Amino acid sequence: MKKISLALTTLALSFATNAAFADSSACDPGERVVKFSHVTGGTTHPKVVAANNFAARVNKEMNGRLCVEVFPNSTLFGDSKELEALLLGDVQLLAPSLSKFGSYTPKYGVFDLPFIFKNMDQAIRFTNSPQGKDLLYAMKDNVGFVGLGYWMSGMKYFSANKKLILPSDAKGLKFRVQTSDVAKAMIEAMGASPQAMAFSEVYGALQTGVVDGQENTWSNIYTKKFYEVQDSITETDHQLLAYLFMTSQDFLDSLSPADRKQFLQIADEVTQEANQSVKAKEAENRANILKAGGKINTLTPEQRQIWVETMKPVWKKFQNDIGENLINAAANS
Ligand code: LMR
Repeated sequence: MKKISLALTTLALSFATNAAFADSSACDPGERVVKFSHVTGGTTHPKVVAANNFAARVNKEMNGRLCVEVFPNSTLFGDSKELEALLLGDVQLLAPSLSKFGSYTPKYGVFDLPFIFKNMDQAIRFTNSPQGKDLLYAMKDNVGFVGLGYWMSGMKYFSANKKLILPSDAKGLKFRVQTSDVAKAMIEAMGASPQAMAFSEVYGALQTGVVDGQENTWSNIYTKKFYEVQDSITETDHQLLAYLFMTSQDFLDSLSPADRKQFLQIADEVTQEANQSVKAKEAENRANILKAGGKINTLTPEQRQIWVETMKPVWKKFQNDIGENLINAAANS
């Protein structure tokens, strides 16, 4: 039912978009075109690198059968339309942040809980656990979405049009957040106002003062130049940003068993490689921000502890929706 109503609301848009990308000049005749849409840009971003690696591998190793075309930077679909486009079959591959699935499942809220992961290694351990692996299929039965793997992006940091050292410095400010109820509650716990907004609109909103701040990884802050329109970035490490590299069950079912096996094998290998290189990419983009003139504030352990305590009540609010077992599994990974 949900599938049908979402499909109808976006039908007009999908026709228009299909018309613009119906022919793929990069693919050979007879090859099946597989569209991969995502919202990040630049050349040093971990998602850009992983998406391009996946396309290069499929296009070489499954040459003559499948041809993956990558559309970065919201050029095919932005945040608000990409999941509906996957439902409609207008795109076959996505890698949205796990914070963008609230209307499909509450379970991914576990990844958003502030300070649940000390670092990406802990998050990778959780995603490799039985509970983490099960979550790849959290939307299979209700909407037919299937996770192919988790791609880490980085830990998140706050930036604002004033220097933030303690959460109380954020009082009264407006922060752009992804469409995540957990993120909204977290901003409210700081005495600030959350404003959900598509990623492609963030730079303009910071520049014009529609919002005062945002939270993101070094790679997003650098490749989208947020540091240009913010006073500074504070090294809070308060949350994880990770992606669900995903497709639809319909698409997987449409492949021959041999092609499906090869496609899934490449997806798994590219995922592992992406997660091995993500820390280096984040470090590179942190350095790039400083080189470009961005300012970074570091915190003492005592200052950081105040952020932890301010945000801790958020966990309780989402305990029932997410499930206590899942929260414990992630926290103890
Ligand atoms: C955001 O919306 O801030 C991020 O999820 C964008 C991305 O895909 O890294």
